[in-house]
Amino acid sequence: MVETLSEEWIDKAQAKLANASKGNFFQTTEARLIPTFDRGDDAAAIDDELTLGKILGEGAFCEVKEISAIKLNNNDAGDGEVTPADLPSEHKGDTDEADFPVNLFQSKAEIRTYMSDNCLREDGTGSHSRYALKQLKPNNSQKHVEQGLIDLSIEAKFLANLNHPSIIRLRGLSGTPLTTNFGLVLDRLYMTLEDQMDAWTATKKDSMSNGLCGCLGMGKMDEETRMGMLVSVVTAAYDLSCAMRYIHDQNLVYRDFKPENAGFDVRGDVKIFDFGFCKELTTDLFDKPSGQYKLTKRTGSQPYIAPENFVGKPYGKPSDVFSFGVLLWEMLHCKFAFYHLPNPKDYTDLVCNRDFRPAIDKSLPLRLQTIISESWDPDYRKRPTFKRLAIQLGVELRDVSSDQDALNRSEQMLDKSARSFRVNAKKKTTH
Ligand SMILES: Nc1ncnc2c1ncn2[C@@H]1O[C@H](COP(=O)(O)OP(=O)(O)OP(=O)(O)O)[C@@H](O)[C@H]1O
Ligand SMILES: [Mg+2]
Repeated sequence: MVETLSEEWIDKAQAKLANASKGNFFQTTEARLIPTFDRGDDAAAIDDELTLGKILGEGAFCEVKEISAIKLNNNDAGDGEVTPADLPSEHKGDTDEADFPVNLFQSKAEIRTYMSDNCLREDGTGSHSRYALKQLKPNNSQKHVEQGLIDLSIEAKFLANLNHPSIIRLRGLSGTPLTTNFGLVLDRLYMTLEDQMDAWTATKKDSMSNGLCGCLGMGKMDEETRMGMLVSVVTAAYDLSCAMRYIHDQNLVYRDFKPENAGFDVRGDVKIFDFGFCKELTTDLFDKPSGQYKLTKRTGSQPYIAPENFVGKPYGKPSDVFSFGVLLWEMLHCKFAFYHLPNPKDYTDLVCNRDFRPAIDKSLPLRLQTIISESWDPDYRKRPTFKRLAIQLGVELRDVSSDQDALNRSEQMLDKSARSFRVNAKKKTTH
């Protein structure tokens, strides 16, 4: 791990961070209270407050580990330290991510104490970490450390200001910004959408080995399994579309939709994470002829990048819709859409220039077929907005949810999302 970063680089990095947060989004939204946890520093005799457990996953430059204990150094004097006894009774005992007390804490010290006391969740199978730490991998090259630290800092800035039930919660920071011990303390997720897609594929295969061959749309799987999977897929797709609607409403683009960047919490609710490529669409980036924005070419992960982004034309919100269309196709077909095109030249030739898309299963509900074909339309002007997608998927969710539990859940999620729009709209009018 590279330990020293030059003064010159730190100046440049700070300028980049200031640039990334200069837009309206950061002026009109308020950052939540985000406490910092010490990471060990022998030279300054600071103890590491976080005990890390197993690796939960890794990306290109970062790794995510569970936090198995938070042992506070006593450095919060004067910051309104509270003991658990000060917390209202409904916030004691077993709580999880969704129950993290809202609008209750007055200081970062209170949050640190709460998180330290509630770091583990006990259930019938043992105790599990509630929080995870995202930090740089130890063996990155100098260039990757520098880029990774800037991405991680930008991600922290966006996450501190984003507020939606289907977006991962940033609960804290760790270490010193722009040093290799910097990290993000996040709610811990239990499986990624990629893992869930593997599970759906296995369920589908099981159904086929029982002689009930078919896929999600074909009606040949036993009806209960097929409908159960359809409800799960449409529920996740609906929640993701609501999160994306909220992100676009803030005039941000996410730019990294893929099954590895969404996951499920302990309740099975989907969350988008990995905001390293998130970007505000500021007016200086606007390209009048296209109505899109001058943004870095090929940002994202190849099999989900929209043609206009891939070939270096201006792009914007419709690029996220394209990625969503690919992802939805994959969730419904239990396959990767462009797995056979790993070479950028082939992707350019087939997907970008010749409009190749895999066939959509004709026995899927018609509304879902239309959503996919419109979302990955080669012409970005014809793609639906996430506002429209969220409405259509909400209707589809009601149609496919026949049992009362699913219906109740879909009502709850519709309500949760509606509430977050109201909170957001209120905020906008107050600034
Ligand atoms: N909160 C979390 N809880 C559990 N696992 C997580 C969490 N966040 C991320 N992960 C796991 O770690 C992996 C890497 O995380 P993330 O995508 O944020 O890192 P990254 O380095 O920015 O990735 P990328 O290569 O996509 O840029 C995820 O794909 C997932 O498997
Ligand atoms: Mg990722």
